[in-house]
Amino acid sequence: MQKRDRLERDRAVSKVEVLTEALPWINRMRGKTFVIKYGGSAMEDAELCRQVVADIELLKLMGIRVVLVHGGGKAINAQLKALNIPVNFKGGLRVTDEQTMRAVQQVLVGQVNQGLVWALNEYGHNAVGISGADGKTLKAAPMDPSLGRVGRIREVDPSLIETILEDGYIPVIASVGCGPDGFYNINADVAAGKVAEAMGADKLIYLTDVDGLYGDVDDEDSLIQTLTRSETHELLASGSLGGGMLPKIRSIAEALDAGVSEVVILNGTFPHSLLLEIFTDAGCGTMFTQD
Ligand SMILES: Nc1ncnc2c1ncn2[C@@H]1O[C@H](COP(=O)(O)OP(=O)(O)OP(=O)(O)O)[C@@H](O)[C@H]1O
Ligand SMILES: [Mg+2]
Repeated sequence: MQKRDRLERDRAVSKVEVLTEALPWINRMRGKTFVIKYGGSAMEDAELCRQVVADIELLKLMGIRVVLVHGGGKAINAQLKALNIPVNFKGGLRVTDEQTMRAVQQVLVGQVNQGLVWALNEYGHNAVGISGADGKTLKAAPMDPSLGRVGRIREVDPSLIETILEDGYIPVIASVGCGPDGFYNINADVAAGKVAEAMGADKLIYLTDVDGLYGDVDDEDSLIQTLTRSETHELLASGSLGGGMLPKIRSIAEALDAGVSEVVILNGTFPHSLLLEIFTDAGCGTMFTQD
């Protein structure tokens, strides 16, 4: 056998080894429900986005019931800028007046949601995009008058999500909720946490644009690898969290309180972080567990 052929064969053997090593993991994961929140912050690079979508598709093919909830913060900011509408955040939440709400809907439902559906459908005809208003999936109420149309989730009705899953599709959910007087802007982290809770999800995964939760956001070496439920509550109570991490950690604490057994924050801009976390011992990012 020529040297080049041997190299080819060795490469093929190592690919097969990867598959066989993943077998016990695949076996364990089949039939489990994973809620994945894909942050708008991690969707900037089209090629990386395609890789995330391919990973999600693979999870589905392996028998995992994948529910995708997405954000769209950066795309919404770009649209608001183009429309000369000021961008304003309070405690990590977007202050949402009527015209901001219209832009949120256009971008989140019309653009980001359909973009993800399109990308997933490249691998088969298997994604269905909905907003939280469809099937009254996310029932909302105003959160705080100073935040305008920012909603808190009053109730999640998972029946439409279940129907979509049972029919073999991946539900892709834009975090817009329906309230008594119209649509509400629901922070996507909050929506993902509540959907995971309502579905009794086995795992809740946040894909964002940083490696995980840092003890000090300016110190690369301060990545926190694991936090228990009580440690998560202590961290929230310390008041040290800010920016986009605040709604994330708050919703993680609530999801753990509601019985979701495992939550993880991963870097969605790191190639195949999803597969690394799920199918290897190595894991990555920040893992949140019950006490
Ligand atoms: N302690 C912290 N550790 C890590 N990131 C932090 C921390 N505090 C603030 N951040 C910020 O949180 C950001 C992630 O939240 P952000 O809301 O921007 O993204 P996302 O939730 O993934 O996307 P989207 O809001 O579009 O759904 C990071 O880019 C980082 O700047
Ligand atoms: Mg966010």
